[in-house]
Amino acid sequence: MIKVLFAGGPTRWEDYRAPLAAALAEAGVAADLRTDHPPEAVDYIVYAPNGPVSDFTPFVRAKAVLNLWAGVEDVVGNPTLTQPLCRMVDVGLTEGMVEYVVGHVLRHHLGLDAHILRQDGTWRPSAPPLARDRRVGVLGLGALGAACARALAGLNFDVAGWSRSEKSLPGIACHAGDGGLGRVLARSEIVVTLLPLTPETEGLLNADRLARLPEGAVIVNPGRGPLIDDEALLAALDAGRIGHATLDVFREEPLPPEHPFWPHPRVTVTPHIASETRPATAARAIAENIRRGEEGAPFLHLVDRDTGY
Ligand SMILES: NC(=O)c1ccc[n+]([C@@H]2O[C@H](COP(=O)([O-])OP(=O)(O)OC[C@H]3O[C@@H](n4cnc5c(N)ncnc54)[C@H](OP(=O)(O)O)[C@@H]3O)[C@@H](O)[C@H]2O)c1
Repeated sequence: MIKVLFAGGPTRWEDYRAPLAAALAEAGVAADLRTDHPPEAVDYIVYAPNGPVSDFTPFVRAKAVLNLWAGVEDVVGNPTLTQPLCRMVDVGLTEGMVEYVVGHVLRHHLGLDAHILRQDGTWRPSAPPLARDRRVGVLGLGALGAACARALAGLNFDVAGWSRSEKSLPGIACHAGDGGLGRVLARSEIVVTLLPLTPETEGLLNADRLARLPEGAVIVNPGRGPLIDDEALLAALDAGRIGHATLDVFREEPLPPEHPFWPHPRVTVTPHIASETRPATAARAIAENIRRGEEGAPFLHLVDRDTGY
């Protein structure tokens, strides 16, 4: 019987214990799932960066570290990590992100604030354009970005996307590389950032790149806080160059109460709730990777240590 260590922390253990046991059984894997196996006996580590494991050295026979989060920036550079690392791709996480992104894009596209926040007795009959006439850019076309781009295109938005490698997605104008980024930014009235945080993406939306967005563009960032240069964003918002920023993720979380994003009239802060890993579906993703590991099949969603995601 293989030994699976749950190292996601005590609170998550309550949520994952039953779904993981069920998913492992469903996948036909006979596993002893616990939070307290001796490290040298562990075959697989189910991991969260804020859980109890930070030194992977004693896990001498571990075949993989299975991250509960999509983002791996807090673990990928851990010098003690020699085992394969898999990130989380979970249908529940993806669905949640699609709902968040579509909701916030529609808010800005339809100008909902004008009606929700200004019901003051003045009749303002100004209809929004159709989605087909609204240009949206999605930076990052991975598990989450591609699903959001597809959902937006499904609503008829005029969607362009950007990724590191060339892609072809039906109904989406796909771009790659530095030139591609410039083209996507220049046309995007609403830009959604769903890139991982890596040395290459940190500070990607700096003053220069923000200046390439159309006047009054809106940013929706459920990716990672450091993708955007905060000072440059605040300057662009203050100048009205950027119309609004809906931010779910921040350099420091929780966002400190004195941070200028909180009171800013052009900023919406959501507290890193865009989407979360759902135990029922994530447990199946983890069980499937353990099944693959036991059968000698390649792991799904293996992190590339060189690119950092
Ligand atoms: N706020 C929340 O609640 C929440 C929840 C989950 C995840 N997230 C964030 O969302 C991020 C994306 O997740 P995911 O599962 O979609 O990741 P993913 O599948 O790894 O996709 C990442 C995408 O970014 C592109 N990319 C990476 N580096 C790039 C670069 N230097 N230049 C251009 N494109 C680059 C990749 O290009 P290629 O396709 O060419 O590789 C890929 O399309 C996570 O890393 C995490 O930070 C946030």
